[in-house]
Amino acid sequence: MPNNIIVGAQWGDEGKGKIVDFLTERADVVVRSQGGNNAGHTVIARGEKHVLHLMPSGILHPGKLCVIGNGVVLDPVGLLAEIDGLAKRGISITPENLKISSTAHLVMPYHPRQDAAREQGANKIGTTRRGIGPAYGDKIERTGLRLADLRDPAKFAERFAERVNQINPVLEAAGVETIDFEAVCREYLAAGERLLPHAANVATILDEAAKAGKSLLFEGAQGTYLDIDHGTYPFVTSSNTTAGGTITGSGFSMRKIDCITAVAKAYTTRVGEGPFPTEDDAFGDRLHGMGREFGATTGRSRRCGWLDMVLVRYACLINGADELAITNLDGLDGLESLRICTAYELDGNRIDHPPATIDEWARLTPIYEDLPGWSDDLTGARDVADLPANARAYLRRMEELAETKVAWIGVGPDREQTIRA
Ligand code: IMP
Repeated sequence: MPNNIIVGAQWGDEGKGKIVDFLTERADVVVRSQGGNNAGHTVIARGEKHVLHLMPSGILHPGKLCVIGNGVVLDPVGLLAEIDGLAKRGISITPENLKISSTAHLVMPYHPRQDAAREQGANKIGTTRRGIGPAYGDKIERTGLRLADLRDPAKFAERFAERVNQINPVLEAAGVETIDFEAVCREYLAAGERLLPHAANVATILDEAAKAGKSLLFEGAQGTYLDIDHGTYPFVTSSNTTAGGTITGSGFSMRKIDCITAVAKAYTTRVGEGPFPTEDDAFGDRLHGMGREFGATTGRSRRCGWLDMVLVRYACLINGADELAITNLDGLDGLESLRICTAYELDGNRIDHPPATIDEWARLTPIYEDLPGWSDDLTGARDVADLPANARAYLRRMEELAETKVAWIGVGPDREQTIRA
């Protein structure tokens, strides 16, 4: 498919990076359109493990154009650290292979501190503390600074000083370290000198690429239920993580998208606070005991639970998914019996979509269907025919419940452990 969107169908960490990495082989341009360095994309390429935060995964393939869209919030210092880390591994990033939207908003040093201050309260979200919420807050409030603002150092310093004067007293009152204006201004202007050669009008670049017959891959960050509109609000991130976010976050025409792939784990995980109807600690202990389900950005152990098909089905609807990619099927190896949540019961009524409020989320109970498991080790499977009958039946049930075909099956972290169904 020429122009493809990849989105997460759960709470992030679905293994999108691996599917993106796989599809990148056929793509010419790889685009990130929302989120910031709260994302952690783990990709194992040619035996080497890479954890990318802001950089599109396409950077691991020579000859691809990587694009960071206007919808991303950009921590310039973090991005440069990522660029330097990749350079040390022999991956060179130049203004030719990385374009960054001039209108992407900057994560300023006060944003992580505002994030941390807010997280001290009783209503903490369990954020990654990368300043994502406050950065998007400034964008919406129209007080943000953008990459192109670094082009005029005097004006940048003036606007930055204005914000520091507003925010420092608030940080001080919260007992959080205040911003050293001079030091940060120097650091950001120096970062600007290195990043501005990459700054561009991304919408035009993407349009021209599509017109030239190139294939575009939009790499979603986080997942559907962390979406600011469609997620488990307020326990969400601050961007549109669903397919629509790739359009507003890049300026590419929605009419030129050919395929939308929703990625779901064969079970469910989430990090941070918030509702999780199918959470099961014993199942989580088992996965953690296998060395699985530790966060790529913060190292936190992820909360784990059974497959929630209410979520996956509704994610297919919200994203307009053409196909599903199921990852981590091997995480279910060795279980006698598997549970799939097919609906919720809320106040005596059966519902088949997510409820609206946190109180409703807390009151509902999952309705389960039990399926037989398998004792085989799936990690060596390279074809659907290699999978045991019970694993195939599990996938078929997912397809039925989601009303969406399964096109990809992941049975391990390596690129080779991805089966095209
Ligand atoms: P924030 O995006 O740092 O503001 O965090 C808000 C919520 O989104 C928290 O529950 C985070 O754990 C979660 N979150 C943010 N980025 C990711 C991700 O890449 N994977 C999984 N969860 C994430």
